Amino acid sequence: MYERFFGLAERPFSISPDPRFFYLSSQHKEALAKCQYAIEQRMGLAVIYGDVGTGKTTIARRLFQAFSDNKKYRTAMLVNPNLRTENSFLREIMKEFGVTTKKAFIDSRALFQQFLIDQYEAGQTVVLMLDEAQGIRGPNFELIRSLLNFETDRQKLINIVLLGQNQLAPMLDDRPELKTRVTIFGALTSLSREDTEGMIRYRYRAAGGEEPPINRDAIDAVFRHSRGLPRVICTLLDNALVKAFALGRHEVDEKLLTAVAKEMRYSVDANAEAVAEQGGQRA
Ligand SMILES: Nc1ncnc2c1ncn2[C@@H]1O[C@H](COP(=O)(O)OP(=O)(O)O)[C@@H](O)[C@H]1O
Ligand SMILES: [Mg+2]
Repeated sequence: MYERFFGLAERPFSISPDPRFFYLSSQHKEALAKCQYAIEQRMGLAVIYGDVGTGKTTIARRLFQAFSDNKKYRTAMLVNPNLRTENSFLREIMKEFGVTTKKAFIDSRALFQQFLIDQYEAGQTVVLMLDEAQGIRGPNFELIRSLLNFETDRQKLINIVLLGQNQLAPMLDDRPELKTRVTIFGALTSLSREDTEGMIRYRYRAAGGEEPPINRDAIDAVFRHSRGLPRVICTLLDNALVKAFALGRHEVDEKLLTAVAKEMRYSVDANAEAVAEQGGQRA
C-alpha cells in the first residue's frame, strides 16, 4: 500500500516474526549466541523467557533456520506445545521429526529413543524447540525431563530449547528436577533507545529502503510509547507510515507518531490519563 510511496520493496514493520528482519540488538545477540552454544555443545536444555513481543519467536525461527540448513542437525519446532497428554505431546514431537509413532506411549517412547540413538551414531545433533513453552501442561514437563535422560556417557541425545513468556521462569522454579538441568538461561526485556533506533534502521533497510523517514524526535516518541518492546515498536511504525502516506507526508514526526500512539492506545500519556480517570472514579 504505502511501499511505493516510500520507495520500499515491502513493509518494513510488519509484525510477522520473519528472520530476515531480525536485528541483532545486544540482548538478542546474547540470547542467540547462548542457544547456539548450548546446541552445538549438546548441553541439553536451554531456556529463553521474556515479555510478550520481545522477540522469542523470531529467535526461535532464526535458530530453526540456521540449524535446519545444516546437515549435521536434525531440528524440529513445536509452535504450540500445549498438548493435553504425555502421549499426544510425544507423538506431536515425533511427527515433527518425521518418526513413526505407535498407539501406546511406551512403544512410541521406545521408537523415539531408538531414533535418537540412530541420529547420535550417524553423527547428527537433534534439536527440539518448543515455543510458547509457558503453555506446556504440568505432566508434560515430566516428558521433557525424561527425554533429557536419554544420554551417552558424555552427551545428551537430544537438545531442547524452551522459549516462553515470563511465567515460564516460576514454572521451572516449581520443578527443580527440570530446572537443575537447564544449562543456559536467557531473558529478553525491552530494547534500549539505541537498539530501538538500530532496529528501526535495520528493518527499514531490509525492506529495500534507505534512511527511514522518521525524525529523531519521532524515534524518541516511539521509544517512549513502546517502552522499547519490539512488537509495539513495529505496530506503531507500521501505522505511522500508513498515516503519513494517507496524509501525503514523506516524514513521520513526533506529532504524527504521538497521534498514532493515542489512536492505538499505546500512548504513555493516554495510560497516565486512564489511571488518573480511574483514580477520579474511585475518589
Ligand atoms: N531483534 C529484532 N529485530 C527485528 N524485529 C524484531 C526483533 N525482535 C522482535 N522483533 C519484532 O517484534 C515482533 C514480535 O516478535 P516475536 O518474536 O513475535 O515476539 P514474542 O515471540 O516474544 O512474542 C515481530 O514483529 C518481530 O519481527
Ligand atoms: Mg512468540
